[in-house]
Amino acid sequence: MTTEDVEAVLAIEKIVQAYPWTRGNFSDALSSGYRCAVDEVQGEIVSYAVLMPVLDEAELLTIGVAATRQRRGLGRTMLAALMQWAIANKMRRVFLEVRVSNLSAIALYRSVGFVEIGMRRGYYRNAQGREDALLMACELTGEDRG
Ligand SMILES: CC(C)(COP(=O)(O)OP(=O)(O)OC[C@H]1O[C@@H](n2cnc3c(N)ncnc32)[C@H](O)[C@@H]1OP(=O)(O)O)[C@@H](O)C(=O)NCCC(=O)NCCS
Repeated sequence: MTTEDVEAVLAIEKIVQAYPWTRGNFSDALSSGYRCAVDEVQGEIVSYAVLMPVLDEAELLTIGVAATRQRRGLGRTMLAALMQWAIANKMRRVFLEVRVSNLSAIALYRSVGFVEIGMRRGYYRNAQGREDALLMACELTGEDRG
């Protein structure tokens, strides 16, 4: 992802996320050196994600796929690419928080090897007030790191 990509990423983000990141959030992620990735189909941005490295761990901060392109493997492809990047950069673990109501994201994370390691009560805002976050992690074993 480059600064020039942020507009297209925001256009997707505003549609697919209940509480979308702002332009400033993406700019900050880029300037902080986080791993910010986009995927394109025929020159059009269709998915994006941001991974924050912290020592030998990385946290997945956001991931999104354009509404009209979902359920075609793009989310899994993006996540797999970020995890390969984490392995190549000697990370030992990727973790994330996800809304307990976000069943499609939870299913995606499970499908690539994330397991639930905890719960943060009332972590997110939602229409009803607060919502719990599921804390998930994927250990990148020595085998994975080749
Ligand atoms: C979550 C999200 C990134 C998944 O991307 P996607 O490209 O639609 O997902 P994929 O096609 O790669 O699906 C991979 C697996 O995830 C699971 N999955 C994805 N969408 C699902 C859905 N709607 N219902 C149930 N399982 C789902 C399935 O296990 C799927 O594997 P399968 O198709 O072989 O059964 C996408 O739905 C999205 O952008 N959601 C809105 C943003 C969001 O919630 N991001 C996560 C929190 S930041």
